[in-house]
Amino acid sequence: MEAVDYSKLKIPTHVGIIVDGNGRWAKERGLSRLKGHDAGFDNLRELVKYIHKRGVKYLSLYVFSTENFKRPKEEVDHLMDLFVIMYKRYRDDFAKNNIKVVFSGRDEPLPKKVIKARDELVELTKNNTGGTVNFCMNYGGRAEILDAIKKIAKSGVDVDSLTEEDIRKYLYQDLPDVDLMIRTSGELRLSNFLLWQNSYAEFYFPKTKFPDFHEADFDQALIEYTSRDRRFGNVKK
Ligand code: IPE
Ligand code: IPE
Ligand code: MG
Repeated sequence: MEAVDYSKLKIPTHVGIIVDGNGRWAKERGLSRLKGHDAGFDNLRELVKYIHKRGVKYLSLYVFSTENFKRPKEEVDHLMDLFVIMYKRYRDDFAKNNIKVVFSGRDEPLPKKVIKARDELVELTKNNTGGTVNFCMNYGGRAEILDAIKKIAKSGVDVDSLTEEDIRKYLYQDLPDVDLMIRTSGELRLSNFLLWQNSYAEFYFPKTKFPDFHEADFDQALIEYTSRDRRFGNVKK
């Protein structure tokens, strides 16, 4: 791979990643799917630090969808245990790098221990100002929009005056739109991830499975993003 000239790269403000391919990565190696998740979440820790170092201010990570509760109990339980371990392990990284952590998703039916580890991490990092990591856990894009509609209906707001910017404020987190959306493992779909926020995102679909998606692979995503012509409906300037 040739050397990257970082001074020439455009850095997206908000990157979204659908962490995918852990299971297939393990299968290829004759391991259980659970080992794939272990490898994936070890890799995620390193990648988060690197993405922050590259100057990305907002990073949304899809780590568990509302639909993932359909998986076998053994796998769901393992992932829930991993989340508890991971949120504890990440504490020092986030403190050192001044990163604020937020979460998007519903509480039900997350186990109490996961909610506790989540809330502790949020509390510990709430005053950090060097960037934001948004974990999307028990997250669904349609559920988010439905939950926002319910909040709006209950708020008594004058619906005729509602704007798109107002809607953003009723979502789980008030974040800017996603600029670059990455899904590893070669799948070409959104699987219910940030439906509102991905409206004008640039999509990047590397074939690499998540446990193998490292710093140099993220650099390739940035190179590709830099080459895209974002027009937002306008004509080329
Ligand atoms: C994504 O990897 C991780 C989570 C859903 C948490 P998968 O488990 O979906 O891996 P594949 O897609 O089966 O390979
Ligand atoms: C989407 O991946 C959810 C996460 C990565 C957390 P899945 O692997 O669950 O999605 P599908 O089932 O292939 O669409
Ligand atoms: Mg998958």
